[in-house]
Formats: sequence, structure tokens, C-alpha cells
Amino acid sequence: MNEPMSDDVWNTLAARRHVALRRLEAPGPDDAALARMMEAAAQAPDHGCLLPWRFVLVPSARRDDLGAVFEEALVTRDPTADDEARASARAKAFHAPCLLVAILVDAPGTAIPVEEKLVSLGCALQNVLLAAQALGFASGLASGGALDTPAMRRLLALESHERAMCFIGIGTGVPKKAPRVRPQPGTFFSSL
Ligand SMILES: Cc1cc2nc3c(=O)[nH]c(=O)nc-3n(C[C@H](O)[C@H](O)[C@H](O)COP(=O)(O)O)c2cc1C
Repeated sequence: MNEPMSDDVWNTLAARRHVALRRLEAPGPDDAALARMMEAAAQAPDHGCLLPWRFVLVPSARRDDLGAVFEEALVTRDPTADDEARASARAKAFHAPCLLVAILVDAPGTAIPVEEKLVSLGCALQNVLLAAQALGFASGLASGGALDTPAMRRLLALESHERAMCFIGIGTGVPKKAPRVRPQPGTFFSSL
């Protein structure tokens, strides 16, 4: 007989909620906690064991560089952006005490389609979020046009078969919004 899901596992799953990166404050994870989250990522399913993803930390010392990339993306999109808008773009780089970038690695040479690699990345990502939750941290995700710009690719030293998918912020904080109503299983589960 299957063991029932432990309360701990369920409570971690059910408690995870997106917290906007700007609302994530210190303390963030120390090196040991971050290493545990990466071990959690490594438990993700991975067809062909290709390791089709990686995570890059943007440490404090590199937040200025990330801010410059955000500003460049803004100015490329809107050359009329004023000083305030530029400052606000740069400020995004300083959100969340721990900031990671999730990268899809679509290396050529196998028959595994990119969609399956993306699913694996999603599983790894969720494992990171759940591990953060289990360790007492809040987390949130952020995407946006700046991720797919030449400046961001340069900053992250992406290879041609790699793509930055989203940021993961980890820290301490509570969501601003009321808990969303979760979809009922009947809306997404059926039987043939
Ligand atoms: C790949 C990905 C990118 C996301 N990017 C953003 C984003 O840019 N801004 C944002 O507010 N939320 C972003 N989210 C988080 C969703 O808004 C959030 O998961 C959704 O509101 C549901 O809330 P929950 O995570 O608390 O269930 C992203 C989620 C995923 C999976």
C-alpha cells in the first residue's frame, strides 16, 4: 500500500505562494541553504539525463551589471525613457536578497525535443521553490523582455543553445494579494 503524503510535504506544497521580488527582503538563504535548493533541483525528472537547465546566481557584487542590462533593455524598447524610468529599471536588479536566473540548455545532438527539456526545467524550478519554502523562505518568479536581449545573454555568458527563462527571487516576505482560489482538480483532471 502507498504511504500517505506526509503533512510536512503537503504543508510545504500548499504554503508556497508567489511573492513579488520587490517584496522579498533579507534574510535570504545562506550558502548551505542555497546548496540544498540546488540539490532539490537535481531531483527533477530529466528524459535522457541531459541536464537541460542550469541556475545562475546574481550576487550582490554583480547587481549593478544586471541593472545596466535592465536599463539598456528599457532604452532599446523606449528611447524616450526618462531618468526616473531608467532608475526604476536599474532598481529591479536589487530586488530579492537571493536572485537566480533559470536557464534552459537545449544542447543539440539528441532526439529529446526542447519541450521535454522545458518540462524538466519547470520541475527543477518547482523543486527549488518548494525547497525554499521548506527551509522557511519565500520566493517569487519574474520574467520580461530583458531576459532575451543581447546584453543579458552577454551578462549570463549564454551559449547559442541556451535561453534565460526567468528570475527566481528568494528571501523573506509575504504576498500582498489574498490567496488565489486554486483550480479544482475537476477542471484539469479527467479520465478517458
Ligand atoms: C515562468 C514564470 C514566469 C513568471 N513571471 C512572472 C512575472 O514576471 N511577474 C509576476 O508577477 N509573476 C510572474 N510569475 C509568477 C506568477 O504570476 C504566479 O505563479 C501566479 O500569479 C500564481 O501565483 P502562485 O505562484 O502564488 O500560485 C511567473 C511564473 C512563471 C511560472
